[in-house]
Amino acid sequence: MSDTTSIVIFGASGDLTKRKLVPALFSLFCKDRLPEDFQLIGMARTDYDSEAFRNQMKSAMQEFAPAKFIEDEWDRFAEKVHYVCGDFGEEHARVELRERLRATEEANGGRANRLFYLATPPSVYESALVGLGETGLAQQDRGWRRVVIEKPFGRDLASAHHLNEVAHQVLDEEQVYRIDHYLAKETVQNLLVFRFANSIFEPVWNRLYIDHVQITVAESVDVGHRGRFYDGVGVMRDMFQNHILQLLSLVAMEPPASFNSNDIRNERVKVLRSLRPMRKREVAENSVRGQYRGYLDDPGVAEESKTATYAALRLFIDNWRWTGVPFYLRSGKALAGKTTEILIQFRSVPHLMFPMEPGEQIRPNQLELCIQPDEGMHLRFEAKVPDTNATMRSVDMEFHYADAFGPGAIPDAYERLLLDALNGDPSLFTRADTIELAWGLIDNILAAWESDPQPPLAIYEPNTWGPKEADEFIAADGRAWELGCAGRRS
Ligand code: BG6
Repeated sequence: MSDTTSIVIFGASGDLTKRKLVPALFSLFCKDRLPEDFQLIGMARTDYDSEAFRNQMKSAMQEFAPAKFIEDEWDRFAEKVHYVCGDFGEEHARVELRERLRATEEANGGRANRLFYLATPPSVYESALVGLGETGLAQQDRGWRRVVIEKPFGRDLASAHHLNEVAHQVLDEEQVYRIDHYLAKETVQNLLVFRFANSIFEPVWNRLYIDHVQITVAESVDVGHRGRFYDGVGVMRDMFQNHILQLLSLVAMEPPASFNSNDIRNERVKVLRSLRPMRKREVAENSVRGQYRGYLDDPGVAEESKTATYAALRLFIDNWRWTGVPFYLRSGKALAGKTTEILIQFRSVPHLMFPMEPGEQIRPNQLELCIQPDEGMHLRFEAKVPDTNATMRSVDMEFHYADAFGPGAIPDAYERLLLDALNGDPSLFTRADTIELAWGLIDNILAAWESDPQPPLAIYEPNTWGPKEADEFIAADGRAWELGCAGRRS
């Protein structure tokens, strides 16, 4: 007798499966990290049989993850891959899926664990959850049952709350794994290690030493072929509600009591609870919304769309550690480069004893956490220029993952997520309360953006770092956006 672990992907003929899920599962297989008797069952309406699905996945591996593709290993992996053609709402497809599961589970005879992955369009999440309830497939007997739900989880607080209710009718919260792939990026996980496995940063990680924090998630890609989807979503829902608020919570959280998932998630959610609520009339002065020139010509975008492809926000966390420290967040598409970075700007020295020209100042220390693509960090401090009396220059102390751990040491986030879901560790997934708190904040901002008089929509040129209004926004506080990791471009 041996245990079976079945991974069932709903929406298996879509992009996510071939670009992310199958490469991640195959890589885990090659590293011998998948359970011994696992099977992967893809399910979708596209008319494949198992053989055709395997061939599609093989071509996808060769196209999207060629460096990870190993022919012999693939043949062993492919033996465990099956496909069920049909809509999960239809009886015949349900019967076929149940039989496919049972065939292996009964042959093995041991515990039957099942991981269901909703890689479908979000409009189908609810019916998939209901279907799991109706079929009893997610009922925990003879093994665990878990359900992974991709983002976006809802499009506002009301829809996210409703989806949570539907999920909780079928599953316990412990069985629900809501994806935010940023949480599983190696550099994001490292925020916990950096802050809580080193003693030198924590004493200065507060309002007494930190002037402000910037989080930048810049993308050079425009919305491309995703126009129809994106136009109904915009940057606030697409990037801020999830990825950026999660980065913020990791930077700002208190030390958790342990590495246990609930302890960590409790601290993350406390940050969101401490965010100063923004009243409608305060939104305009605390945000900038922008759209890149040319967006309206992208396929699928409404003619006079006001959807923001760029946003900058100023947030405050009202607690003992952070009161008075502004957190500036920005993200956009069609920018001059792809970079995700967190900048901690320390306060200036309290007294300057060095001879300086009138008005001359020294630059405060900065810590730049480079999330991607050049993963690492830089610490900026002042150094005396040799052979001068006391001329100073800023220099960097740098750490790069590629130098310290070798090139290719960083796995794709989906490897971590799939492995954790299989192992029952939800630390890097978003809990129901967190999702709803985040939506509450974003709803307020969107409501203010969408009600009359609407705040202006700043048009920016593609291939720049965003609208000049965003520079003016932060300049009004006597500060400037900085891009340390992306080569101090701005
Ligand atoms: C997704 C967004 O969640 O994250 C996309 O829907 C965005 O619009 C992507 O491009 C960015 O992810 P990454 O890992 O490339 O930074």
